[in-house]
Amino acid sequence: MASSAAAATKQANGAGALDRLLAATQPEMERVNALILKRADSHVEMVPALARYLIEAGGKRLRPMLTIAAAMLCGKARGAQINYAAAVEFMHNATLLHDDVVDESDLRRGRPAARTIWGNQASVLVGDFLLGQAFMMMVEAGDLEALGVLSKAATIIAEGEVFQLAKAKDLSTTPEHYDQVIRAKTAMLFEAAAEVGAMAGGADAAIRAALRDYGRELGLAFQLVDDVLDYRGESGAMGKNTGDDLREGKMTLPVILALADANRAEREILVAALGQPAASETTLAQVVAIMNRHDTLGRTVELALAHVRLAREALAPLPASEMKTLLSDIAEFYVSRAY
Ligand code: IPE
Ligand code: IPE
Ligand code: MG
Ligand code: MG
Repeated sequence: MASSAAAATKQANGAGALDRLLAATQPEMERVNALILKRADSHVEMVPALARYLIEAGGKRLRPMLTIAAAMLCGKARGAQINYAAAVEFMHNATLLHDDVVDESDLRRGRPAARTIWGNQASVLVGDFLLGQAFMMMVEAGDLEALGVLSKAATIIAEGEVFQLAKAKDLSTTPEHYDQVIRAKTAMLFEAAAEVGAMAGGADAAIRAALRDYGRELGLAFQLVDDVLDYRGESGAMGKNTGDDLREGKMTLPVILALADANRAEREILVAALGQPAASETTLAQVVAIMNRHDTLGRTVELALAHVRLAREALAPLPASEMKTLLSDIAEFYVSRAY
């Protein structure tokens, strides 16, 4: 684990990289955001009300930024990247609406989750609307191959969420199962976001593969960090509640590793707490103490850092450029949230 001074330096460098990436992608992201707002509209009032509630709460817009950055990096983008970026964010927002229903989460992007205001049914249906709009925007871009990349992603993400659900509270879940889940539910969209950006930018096969690999590794690192922060993060900073994963019995890597290394007494505590919606803060603290004893959060961060290294290595075939440096630095930044 990095010392706090080293971590602070890394965070400062990373924050600089985020500002530079935001600045570099800003003009295109303004077009993306305008398109997002436009396509969230509907004559059925509840649709824009709910969709805009989520959209206007912000979010990091990391995935569409990835699409735009990849397209800019390849240099020959003619406009399809705007549609793809908006579609990718819509796919993401649809999965968030659905995910909060499945996970029974009450806080999203620093606000009460949409489902707590409009209900689960409306959240599911507006999620479906956004997914439909995402596909319309892809079709309008007119590239069947890119449509294929994003359609496959939509399928795999749903499959990953179902697999995760099937594994809830399953004490036999292995790190390999977990890897399978996060590749599908999270990394797949990062991968597709970068790949369609490259396609819109006119990339050749090698560059397209490089950006796809970069996106996948970044996505894996991102989810590993998210799963650490669910135990160790600050709800205020994340805009969502901590402890949700434990309460719903989600088999994330910190808990899988803890179960593997726990002694009998510790295992009893873990098993009793997993999947208890009413688990108290004291119980959560006990679980985190067990995790800390076996360094399972630290080891999960280490794995995230290994994926950051792979993400950076994936960029090797790209010629040197400011955007390449930014993509390399930004991977470090998102992991630095965890230490
Ligand atoms: C949340 O993604 C879902 C995960 C894959 C962990 P983000 O953390 O990117 O959510 P927003 O878009 O910034 O709210
Ligand atoms: C990511 O999983 C959700 C999707 C990829 C749909 P999480 O359930 O960990 O995401 P958060 O923590 O609710 O944002
Ligand atoms: Mg969730
Ligand atoms: Mg989470």
